[in-house]
Amino acid sequence: MADIDYTGGNWGCAGRLKITDREKIPAGRYFDEDFFKLEAEHVWGHAWQMACRLEQIQNIGDWVDYEILGKSVIVIRTAEGVKAFHNHCRHRGVPLTDGPHGNCKTKGFICPFHGWRWNMNGESTFVYGKQMFSPELLEKDELALRPCRVETWGGCAFINFDDDATSYRNSIGPVLGRLEAHGMDNLRAEWWFGTVLPANWKIAMEAFMEGYHVMKTHPQLQHTVPMLYNTRYGMDTGGSGAPVNPELSAHENILAQFEHLKLLHSGMAGMVCAKELDIAGQLLDVVLPENPAEALPVWYHLVQEQITRRLRAKGEKVPDLNAVAVSDPVNAVEFLFPNYFLLPFFTGMSSYRIRPLGPESCLFEIWSLAPFAPGEEPAPPMRPTMLPYDSQDFPLIPRQDYSNIPLQQKGLHSKGFEFARLAKNVEGLISNYQRLIDAYIDGVPGEILARANNELGGNFDGKIVDLGLGGL
Ligand code: FES
Ligand SMILES: [Fe+2]
Repeated sequence: MADIDYTGGNWGCAGRLKITDREKIPAGRYFDEDFFKLEAEHVWGHAWQMACRLEQIQNIGDWVDYEILGKSVIVIRTAEGVKAFHNHCRHRGVPLTDGPHGNCKTKGFICPFHGWRWNMNGESTFVYGKQMFSPELLEKDELALRPCRVETWGGCAFINFDDDATSYRNSIGPVLGRLEAHGMDNLRAEWWFGTVLPANWKIAMEAFMEGYHVMKTHPQLQHTVPMLYNTRYGMDTGGSGAPVNPELSAHENILAQFEHLKLLHSGMAGMVCAKELDIAGQLLDVVLPENPAEALPVWYHLVQEQITRRLRAKGEKVPDLNAVAVSDPVNAVEFLFPNYFLLPFFTGMSSYRIRPLGPESCLFEIWSLAPFAPGEEPAPPMRPTMLPYDSQDFPLIPRQDYSNIPLQQKGLHSKGFEFARLAKNVEGLISNYQRLIDAYIDGVPGEILARANNELGGNFDGKIVDLGLGGL
């Protein structure tokens, strides 16, 4: 591909913060006001954003107000499918919603200022004192609510402020198919928590882009299966993370794995579902090969087979876990640019969304997603339970991540800290993400952005890769 011509025309005085070395991320990108404005315009104005879960808008007329950087979009279930409208009255601009969610089937939307009205399809249904206006101001198309791009995927509605953006599927790429194979579409939210973190949104995202921090930040995870982490990060073996400890018997290795699963259940609150842990717990004494390296994969295979079989017997629509592990492997964390990511495990997933509130503040939300038999789905959580970030009510693992994030934000301002330095084979996703942000700011054409974005899929703990963005 021919090199892209970066004019740098959009950058202004934030140009000094552009990435020039793939392994170095300038500190100012996490707090500079001008850089933040560039992101607001060029990233948030053009990238697909997870606006709501579809179970929040199950019935005709159900709507949700999605807010990002002072802009608001109504996402609504209509008889013709999910639609979205920019949230303003066509008269003098007042937002039309009176809360974060509601149902407009009977009343439509009524502006609280002069009482103009619209139906759920965005068509004007009432203008008070029409005769006072020039007729051309009240033409049907003039009065219709302004539609916003919206697409559904993976149990969510995604919106985009860019009318010309390529489709969501195109934009994110093959990782979507892999997550679908893992049953993404059939999951339902069990709970939804939120917190405000005093940190740039990228700092919060990047805390989940590598497992290199596990040893110090999550010592409990490290202690249950030290070999898994040491062979991956700590021993210069270049290994991919061997889960087996040769000093322990096969049975002891299985018990260690089970402790790890328990922690992923309680510490991650939902990544491993209670019913899955139950099944694994019933398989601790099965007869296995004596060699731990052989025993562990056999045990995992058995656990996955039993989870699949038993949950299907209850009517849950879950994939064949052993089959999808081969046909559609997914990573520990799968990032969907810019701010949504999933942590798939067995049949459930945790999902995270991080929205900027300002250069050094972000809204961080977590959903626990799990499969349910028809008729047994929980009532959909309609808004997040908001907690302080240091609340003991958060599960252990995210709480440990939250403890570092505000500290890092503080340290970024320290004199002499010019840039973050990245491990090029393990923290590569941070560089890849940041360079894609630069490409958005550069105004790179949508199809090239989409191609670069496709490269991010499956790159947790990954390498710095060439994104097809020329010199960047
Ligand atoms: S501003 Fe909405 S009716 Fe006047
Ligand atoms: Fe973490």
